[in-house]
Amino acid sequence: MISEKMQNAINDQINAEFYSGYLYLAMSTFAESINYKGFASWFRKQSEEENTHAFKLLDYLQERGGRAILKALGEPPADFKSIEYSFEQTLSHEKTITARIHKLYELAVGEKDYATQSFLQWFINEQVEEEATAEEILDQIKMVESKPGSLFYIDRHIGKRQ
Ligand code: FEO
Repeated sequence: MISEKMQNAINDQINAEFYSGYLYLAMSTFAESINYKGFASWFRKQSEEENTHAFKLLDYLQERGGRAILKALGEPPADFKSIEYSFEQTLSHEKTITARIHKLYELAVGEKDYATQSFLQWFINEQVEEEATAEEILDQIKMVESKPGSLFYIDRHIGKRQ
C-alpha cells in the first residue's frame, strides 16, 4: 500500500501532467490561429502525450491500492506571442516538470518506497528526452530568426511528427 503522502504527491503530478496537456493544446490552437499548421499538429501530439503520462501515473496509483483524485486544471494562456516564445515556454515548463519528478523520486527514496522509485525511472528518462527535444526545436527556430519565411520550412518538417 502506498503512503498517504505519496498518494497526494502522485495526485498532484497527475494534475500537472493533465495541465501540461492543456497548456500544449493551447499552444496548438495558438499556432493554428497564426497559420502554422505543422507546429499546431506537433503541439497537439505533445498534448496527447502528456495525457498518457497522467494516465500512467493514475494507473500506477490505483494498482498500488491508492486513490486517484482529479483536481481542477489551471487555465493556460491564450496568447503565446510567437512560435519561438511558445517553445521557450515549453522548455521552461518541461524543466519545471523535471524538477517535480525529481522531488517525487526524493520522496520515494525517503520513504524507502522501492516500487515507486522503479516506476519513476521511466519519467526521469522521459524528461531528459522532453527537454532535449524542446531545446533542439528552439535552437532551430533561433537559427532562422533573421530569415523571413524560413519558419515555414521548419513548420512543414515538424508537422510530420508521428
Ligand atoms: Fe509529461 Fe512533458 O512532461
